[in-house]
Amino acid sequence: MNRFANKSVVITGGSGGIGSVTGKLMAEEGARVLLVDIDEKALKEIVRDFDSDPVEYAVADVTKPEQVKAYVDKAVELFGGIDIFFNNAGVEGNVAPLDEYSLDEYHQLIHVNVNGMFFGLHYVFPVMKKNDKGGSIIMTSSVAGLMGTANVTPYVTSKHAVIGMMRSAALEGAGHNIRVNTVNPSPVDNRMMRSLESGFNPDESEKAKEQFEQMIPLGRYATNEEIAKMVMFLASEDSEFITGTVNPVDGGMTA
Ligand SMILES: NC(=O)c1ccc[n+]([C@@H]2O[C@H](COP(=O)([O-])OP(=O)(O)OC[C@H]3O[C@@H](n4cnc5c(N)ncnc54)[C@H](O)[C@@H]3O)[C@@H](O)[C@H]2O)c1
Repeated sequence: MNRFANKSVVITGGSGGIGSVTGKLMAEEGARVLLVDIDEKALKEIVRDFDSDPVEYAVADVTKPEQVKAYVDKAVELFGGIDIFFNNAGVEGNVAPLDEYSLDEYHQLIHVNVNGMFFGLHYVFPVMKKNDKGGSIIMTSSVAGLMGTANVTPYVTSKHAVIGMMRSAALEGAGHNIRVNTVNPSPVDNRMMRSLESGFNPDESEKAKEQFEQMIPLGRYATNEEIAKMVMFLASEDSEFITGTVNPVDGGMTA
């Protein structure tokens, strides 16, 4: 398949588990990709791994509006526009009761997971409005956007917020054929879950993993590729009549 021939794609959290795999799979289907992340070292390593598929990167902190504007400008300079925006950068924060949660860490989490997403929309929307064919925006929420979990209240709050942001953006974008949807992964077998597992059970993180797996009817974590496949569906013309929707990829966890 070559669903993304001549499509330009911007991915935040581009050196992370889900973002980098999505970028690679999209590039294999013809996309021109700009990976955006705060972690320059990881970006350089990922770009090296792309071998034959051309990919660009931009170092940016999504909580800084001027840096968000800079990565959007870079995409326009490189590609002439943005067809697909995977608004995906996020942090997991700490595991702690809400009355013990550090307020500085709370602010930082909301800054990345909510403000960073909004700043992305703020600067990408005008670029997509100029596209004759509009565009597709996918925002990474989570099963944590659909249900509560004790001791990660800030994360859950942020991922619920992403759904509200997506719904309003979908209504604003519709007249310009800009589609906006969320992808809502259950636990994914990558760095972020290793961090949360040791937050939930510092002495026996494997036990925390087993407990999560028991909450998932299909009995295991998702892979980065499984999340990427949903993102690619939402990004492609296969989903051209789909906007304003929430899309769990969760092995039945929210059923
Ligand atoms: N891993 C999971 O189990 C899981 C489940 C549901 C949702 N998610 C969401 O998926 C998205 C991607 O996470 P992942 O699983 O690939 O984890 P990850 O930690 O591998 O990737 C997140 C990326 O975001 C980047 N980032 C963090 N703060 C940033 C900032 N201020 N500016 C720019 N980049 C920044 C990190 O450097 C990292 O590369 C996140 O929004 C996360 O909340 C993950």
